[in-house]
Order: sequence, then C-alpha cells, then structure tokens
Amino acid sequence: MNTPTEQVRERLSTASRVTVLTGAGISADSGIPIFRGPEGLWKNFRAEDLATPGAFARDPNLVWEWYNWRRELIAMKEPNAAHQALVKMEGEMESRRAQFRLLTQNVDGLHTRAGSRNLVELHGNIWKVRCTGCGQVTEDHRVPIPIPPRCSSCGEMLRPHIVWFGESLDPRDMDLAIEALEQCEVMLVIGTSGVVQPAASFASTARAAGAFVVEINPDVSSSVAHVALRGRAAEIVPQLV
Ligand code: APR
Repeated sequence: MNTPTEQVRERLSTASRVTVLTGAGISADSGIPIFRGPEGLWKNFRAEDLATPGAFARDPNLVWEWYNWRRELIAMKEPNAAHQALVKMEGEMESRRAQFRLLTQNVDGLHTRAGSRNLVELHGNIWKVRCTGCGQVTEDHRVPIPIPPRCSSCGEMLRPHIVWFGESLDPRDMDLAIEALEQCEVMLVIGTSGVVQPAASFASTARAAGAFVVEINPDVSSSVAHVALRGRAAEIVPQLV
C-alpha cells in the first residue's frame, strides 16, 4: 500500500494539468509570520483592521507604517524549499508538455524570486504601488518607503497595489484562476487557512470540476481535500517532486 505522499507523487507525475494554491503558510518557513497566528499582529492591529480602503481613508500614514514594517520583514527573507520545489515541479511538468498553474494569495513576491513563472498573484504584490490619483502602477522596493509616498507623475498619494478586504480581485486574475481550477486534474492547497474569499472556495471549485485535491498544512483547515498531508510546506512539498 502506497503512503499518502507516494499516492500524491504518482498523481502529480501523470497529471496533464496541475493547479497549486498557496497562502501565508508556505512563507512561514521563510520566517514570515502567518496572518492568523500569534505573530500576525502589529501594534495589536489585525490585518483586517488595516488592509481595508476604510482604514487607508481614515489614516493612510498608519497603513503605510504597517506596510513599511512588513516590507522590512519580507525584504530580509528568502524563498524556502517549498517555493523552490514548486519551481522544479513547474519545470518538470513543462518538459513533458503538461500545464502547471500557481495561484497565490501571498503578496511577498517569494514565488517570483524563487523562479515560478506561471503565477497569478491574486492579492497583488507588496513591492508594487498604485497612484490613488492617476492609477499608475509601479514597482517600488524602497524600505522604508517615505510616508506618505507620492506619485512621481501626478503628485497624488500612492497606495500598496494590494487587494484589500472589501475590494474585488482583478477580473483577469479571477478568470485565469477559474480556468486553472476547472481544468486541473490535481490541485495542491498549501498553507492557507481557507477563510478569505474568493480563494477559500477554490478547492471546492476544483473538486466539483473533478480534481483530486490535496491539502498541505500542519493543521486541519479544509474538509474538501481527498488527501491531507500534515506538516510544514518546506518539508512536504519537496517530497512531492
Ligand atoms: N507550512 C504550511 N502551512 C502552514 C505552515 C507551514 N510551515 N505554518 C502555518 N501554516 C498554515 C496555518 O495552519 C494556516 O492554516 O498556514 C495557514 C495560514 O493561514 P492565514 O494566516 O489565514 O493565511 P492565508 O490563508 O494566506 O490568509 C489569506 O488573508 O489576511 C488576508 O490577504 C491576506 O492573503 C491573505 C489572506
């Protein structure tokens, strides 16, 4: 009898379409605190208190201070073995002309730094800013960013290019995600608590469309998965490639 890990490996090695959804848990092994954990608070604020259009309208400097704290924290971190294993998985699948899609809720940019290419950053990227006046999106790697940051074209205030609570995902990203979920044969759900929509329902969407769903998380978070591999992402994901 194969172990659950071997079963998943086997599925992955023959699948012609694989979709992966990641959350904060995959970056926990790089030393970035997850949102819904004991270290997820900053000055006693939760992400839900600060990552909203209302919080930014009330006190943009406070929101930017929080992002500066997160930018500083993330700037020092490196992709871990799980990010790297997904790059390897993508390469192996590409070499046998299979399709690999990576959907992430993370804004830390570690998947890109590791070398993932077929990537949708559903919630945006902490290294991008958007002008609240002219809407221009630019990359900005300053740590700390001067508060309040201003647009170099029109002088209006910049905001993080991140999808906040109460905002909708970019419809193009949503289309790519839905296609990836409806077409995949195997879906890996790595390190997400599955409480923030719409990503929280992605595993059910894939399962309803016929995918074999695998959850990788040290804690139980989804009841949708066919198989749950309990453990840290950096330990489990490399075993699947
Ligand atoms: N490996 C794998 N999973 C882990 C690890 C690890 N080393 N450590 C913790 N986890 C799991 C936790 O058990 C939890 O289920 O990662 C999950 C992290 O959950 P959240 O902190 O809720 O993060 P996430 O699901 O990504 O949050 C979704 O909420 O705050 C918003 O926009 C933000 O993208 C974020 C969204």
